[in-house]
Amino acid sequence: MAPPRRSPNPNPLLPAIAVVLLLFPATAAASPYSDHCHGLPSAPDLADGGGGGEGTDFRSLQLHTGYFTGGGERLFGPDPSHPPRSFAFLPSSVVRTTDASLLHVSATLTVSGGWRRPTVGGRHRLFEYDAQHARHQFRPRLPRVIGRRGSVTFGLEGYYSSASGELCMVGNGSGRTADGTEVNLISAVLRVRYPGRANLTSPFVTGSLESTDSPGLFDPVSLVAYAEEGYAYAESASCPPPPAGRLDALQVFEGRKFSCGKLSSMFKEPFRLEYSNGSDLTASSLGLHQRFMFFNRMRCADDGAVRAYVVFSNQTDAPKYYFTLGEKAMVVEGFWDDKRNRLCLKGCHVVNSAQSRADLSVGECGIGMSFWFPAVWTLQERSFSAGLIWNASLTSGEGIAASSSTIPPYIRGSISGLKYNYTKVDEARKYYEKYGLNKKRKGKFPDSNSYRDLTFRFFLQKGGGSGYASPVTIGSMLYDGNSLVALDLFSHVTAENQRLLNVSYDFQYVGNWSLETFRRQHISAEGVYDAKTGSLCMIACRVVNISSDCEILVTAQFASLDTKAAQHVKGTIRSLRKKTDPLFFEPLDIASYGLYIDQVDESIWRMDLESTMALISMTLSCLFIAVQLFHVKKVPEALPAMSITMLVVLSLGYMIPLVLNFEALFKNSNKQTVPLSGGGWLEVNEVIVRVITMVTFLMQLRLLQLAWSARSVDVSKDQSWAAEKKVLWICLPLYIIGAVVTWVVHMRFNNNRRMLRKVARFPRVINRHSFWEDLVSYGGLILDGFLLPQIVLNAFSGSKVKALSPGFYIGSTMIRALPHVYDLFRAKHFVPSLRPFYRYANPRDDLFSLAWDIAIPCGAILLSLLLFFQQRLGGSFFLCLKNNSKSSEYEMVSTVSS
Ligand SMILES: *[C@@H]1O[C@H](CO)[C@@H](O)[C@H](O)[C@H]1NC(C)=O
Ligand SMILES: *[C@@H]1O[C@H](CO)[C@@H](O)[C@H](O)[C@H]1NC(C)=O
Ligand SMILES: *[C@@H]1O[C@H](CO)[C@@H](O)[C@H](O)[C@H]1NC(C)=O
Ligand SMILES: *[C@@H]1O[C@H](CO)[C@@H](O)[C@H](O)[C@H]1NC(C)=O
Ligand SMILES: *[C@@H]1O[C@H](CO)[C@@H](O)[C@H](O)[C@H]1NC(C)=O
Ligand SMILES: *[C@@H]1O[C@H](CO)[C@@H](O)[C@H](O)[C@H]1NC(C)=O
Ligand SMILES: *[C@@H]1O[C@H](CO)[C@@H](O)[C@H](O)[C@H]1NC(C)=O
Ligand SMILES: *[C@@H]1O[C@H](CO)[C@@H](O)[C@H](O)[C@H]1NC(C)=O
Ligand SMILES: *[C@@H]1O[C@H](CO)[C@@H](O)[C@H](O)[C@H]1NC(C)=O
Repeated sequence: MAPPRRSPNPNPLLPAIAVVLLLFPATAAASPYSDHCHGLPSAPDLADGGGGGEGTDFRSLQLHTGYFTGGGERLFGPDPSHPPRSFAFLPSSVVRTTDASLLHVSATLTVSGGWRRPTVGGRHRLFEYDAQHARHQFRPRLPRVIGRRGSVTFGLEGYYSSASGELCMVGNGSGRTADGTEVNLISAVLRVRYPGRANLTSPFVTGSLESTDSPGLFDPVSLVAYAEEGYAYAESASCPPPPAGRLDALQVFEGRKFSCGKLSSMFKEPFRLEYSNGSDLTASSLGLHQRFMFFNRMRCADDGAVRAYVVFSNQTDAPKYYFTLGEKAMVVEGFWDDKRNRLCLKGCHVVNSAQSRADLSVGECGIGMSFWFPAVWTLQERSFSAGLIWNASLTSGEGIAASSSTIPPYIRGSISGLKYNYTKVDEARKYYEKYGLNKKRKGKFPDSNSYRDLTFRFFLQKGGGSGYASPVTIGSMLYDGNSLVALDLFSHVTAENQRLLNVSYDFQYVGNWSLETFRRQHISAEGVYDAKTGSLCMIACRVVNISSDCEILVTAQFASLDTKAAQHVKGTIRSLRKKTDPLFFEPLDIASYGLYIDQVDESIWRMDLESTMALISMTLSCLFIAVQLFHVKKVPEALPAMSITMLVVLSLGYMIPLVLNFEALFKNSNKQTVPLSGGGWLEVNEVIVRVITMVTFLMQLRLLQLAWSARSVDVSKDQSWAAEKKVLWICLPLYIIGAVVTWVVHMRFNNNRRMLRKVARFPRVINRHSFWEDLVSYGGLILDGFLLPQIVLNAFSGSKVKALSPGFYIGSTMIRALPHVYDLFRAKHFVPSLRPFYRYANPRDDLFSLAWDIAIPCGAILLSLLLFFQQRLGGSFFLCLKNNSKSSEYEMVSTVSS
C-alpha cells in the first residue's frame, strides 16, 4: 500500500489513521469488494504506485462530521443522545488506477452514538471538548477512539468514481457497544454519494453503511453530512437592498484581507430570534417559531464567498461541533460585503423527508438573510451581532430580527472600532443631583480603573433571588466579561480623574425562586458613577412583551475601599412610573456582600497568618506538656496530685479534632479547600499541625497513664480517689448543665435561621450548624476551664503539692486565651466574611463573640491565679470554711460560663 502523500493541507489525524490501518490490515481482498460493490468496478493501481492522489482528492472526500441514523440501539444507544450521533470519514490514501475516473481509496470511518448509561456531566463535556480539538490533536489517541462506548471504527478500502460521485468500500471494524461491550471484526460495506460539485441546492453528502455478516451485526445506517470541499458558489450571488435604518456596522476587516477564520469565529454564538409584531407574517410564511438560530457549519472561500448550514432550535445548547439536524434547518450561500460590512446570504429550506432521519434534501428557496456587527452600542442596543431573515417573495411585512449579545471568546480583545453612545446620562445626572445621593460620604471608593471592584453579585432583599451586575462601559472604556474590549472609543478624550463618570451596566437576575416566575431578567442601565462617593445613579431599560420600558431608575452605593463592613453594595431598582401604570413594579432592594480585590488579598494574608499561629500554638502546647512531664519526673509527689478529670478533659480536647478531621478526610475526599488561594503552604501546614496534634495527644495520654498508675500505688489512694469523685460530682453536672443550655440556645437560633431562610435573602450563605457542631464549640469552653477540676481537687485535698508546673498551667492558659484576643483583633481589622474560613480561632472550636472574647481570657487567668495561690498557700486557702466551697465554686464557674 502506498504511503499517503502529504497533501498541502495535511490532515493531523493521519497518524491516527495509520495506526488504525495497522490494526485493520486492509488486505485488499478482492472478493468481499466485488461481492458488495457491484456497481463500481475495481481496477489495478497505476504502476508507479507512489503517484498518490492529489490533495484535492483527499479533501473532497473527507467528512469531518456528519450525522447518522439507524444502526440499532444496542450498538449506538438511543437517538437523540449525548453526545449527539456523529460520524467522521477520513481517507488515509488515495491512489490513481489504470481507469482514469477511478480512485483507489483507503479510509477510516468512525461512527459514534451515545452511551447507554449516561455518566455525569463532566465526561460529556470532556468528549465534546475532544471533538472540538480533535483536529488539533497530533498524537493518535487510539485507545480512546476504540474504547469510547457506542462507537465503532472501521478500516475500509474501495473505489471512488469521479464520474458518478459514488464511493464504495468494504472493511472490518471494532469498537464498543453503547453499554460498553467490546465488538470486533464487524464487516461492513460503505456506500457514499458525493454530489459531484456541491451547490446550494445539492449541498449534502449522503451514504449508507450495512453489515455484510449473514445475521447482520447492526441495522443499516444512513449517513448525511454537509459537503466540505469542491463547492460551486452561484455566479451572481445578489444581495437584496439592506434593511432600512440598520447601518453603522463595525468594519470587521478594516481594509485588511478577508479572513474566513475570523468571520466564522464571529458567528460561533447562537442568535436569539425576535418575533416582533411586524414579523409575524414572515415567520409564518417561513414556518419559523424557534427561539434560537445557529450557524452549525460555515465555510467560505478566500474571495469572500460564504456558505452555511443554519439550524433553528428552542435550545441554546445545541451542539456546535457536530453536524446536527435541529428542529429546522436552512442552507444559505452568499458573500461578505466589504463595502457595507455585512454578510449577505440567500438560502433555501432543508427538508427532512422523515423526521429525525438522515434523509435531507433542499426545498423551496427564496429566503434572504443579512448579518452585521453593530458599531455603536446604546442603552437599548448592545448586540455584538445582529441580523435579519426575510422571505424574498413577500412584499409586505418585516424580517425576523436576530441578535447575539455574547462576544465569542475567540475574538475577545481583537475587535476595535466599537463605540458606545451615551444617551440617558443627562437624565440620570438630573436624578443624581435631585436626590443628592450621599454627597457627604467620605472615604476611598473604586475608581474608573477598577472594573473588577465595580462588578458585583447581588441578592434581592425582598422575595428572594440573586443576580449579577457588570459594567459595560466605564467612561470611555468598554468591557466584556473580564476583558477590556476596546480602549479610547471616543474621539473626545475624557479626563479620567474627574468626579462623575459616564457608565453603563448590565444587570441580570433571577427573581422569585418559585418556578412559575423563574426567569432570567435582564436590565441594561446607563448613567453616572461618582467616584468620590461611590454612588451609582442610572436610567435602565427592561424588555416587557417585546417593547421596552425605560422608566427605571437604578441607584447603588459601594462601600468604601477600607470599610470593615460586610455589605459591599446597597442599592435599589425602582420604577419611575405611577403606581397605577401597568408597567409599574415595586422597588427592588439589592445588596451585595462581596469583597474588594484588595480585601481578598488581605484575607489571603490573614489565612497565612492564622495557619502560622495555629502551628505555633500547637507546637507550644506540645512543649508545655513536655515541661509537665519533666516536672513530674522531678517532683514525684506531683503525679498522684494531678486531677485525673483534668487530664481526661485535656486528652479529649486533643482527640476530638483529630477524630473529626480524620472523619472529614474520608467523608469527602473533595474536601473544601481554601476558596481563594490554593497555596500549597496551607495544605502542608495543615498536615504538620495534625501531626503535632497527634504527638501532643500521645504525650497527654502518657501523662494520664503516669498519673493513673501513680495514684493506684499511692499510699493514700483511697483518699485521693474519694477527692476525685467529689470533683466529678461537681464538674460533671456543671458540664451537663452547660450542654443543655447549648442545646436550648441551638434550638432557638436554628428556628430563627429557618425564618431567615424563608426570607431567603442569602440562600446559601446562612449555613446551618448541627447540634453536634455547637456541642463541639461548647467543648471548647470546657477546655478553656481545664484548670477547674484541678482547683476543685486541690480545694478538697487541701494539699500544697505543686501538682502542675507553672510552665504547663500558665502556658496552656495563654494558649487557650490567645485565640480570643486574636478574635477581637480580627473583628476589628478584617472584613468579616459571610462564609468564614478560619484557620485559627475557629468558631467551630470554641465560643467566639465580643462577650466571650473578654469573659473567657479573664476566667482562664482567674483560674490560673487561683491555682498559683493554692500551690503556694494550700488548696483551700480561699475558704474559711470547707463547707462553703461548693457555693463559691458555683459562683466562680458562673463568671466563667455566663
Ligand atoms: C474482515 O474479516 C473477515 C473475518 O476475519 C475476513 O474474512 C475478511 O477478509 C475481512 N475483510 C476485510 C475487508 O478485510
Ligand atoms: C446544483 O447542481 C445540480 C447537479 O449537480 C444541478 O442540477 C443544479 O441545477 C445545481 N443548482 C444550482 C443552483 O446551481
Ligand atoms: C400589532 O400589529 C397590529 C396590526 O398591525 C396593530 O394593530 C397593533 O397595535 C400592533 N401591536 C403592537 C404592540 O405594536
Ligand atoms: C414566502 O411567502 C410565500 C407566501 O406566504 C410562501 O408561499 C413561500 O413559501 C415563502 N417562501 C419561503 C422560502 O418560505
Ligand atoms: C419553541 O418555542 C416556541 C415559543 O417559545 C413554541 O411556540 C414552539 O412550539 C417551540 N418549538 C418546539 C419544537 O418546542
Ligand atoms: C447617539 O445617539 C443620538 C440620539 O439617539 C444620536 O442623535 C446620535 O447621532 C448618536 N451618535 C452616534 C455617534 O451614533
Ligand atoms: C458623558 O456623556 C455625555 C453625553 O450624554 C457627554 O456630553 C459627556 O461629555 C460625557 N462625559 C464624559 C466624562 O465622558
Ligand atoms: C414574587 O412573587 C410574588 C407573588 O408570587 C410577587 O408578588 C412579587 O412581586 C414577586 N417578586 C419579584 C421580585 O418578582
Ligand atoms: C404582556 O402581554 C400579555 C398578553 O399580551 C399580557 O397579558 C401581560 O399583561 C403583558 N405584560 C405586561 C407586563 O404588560
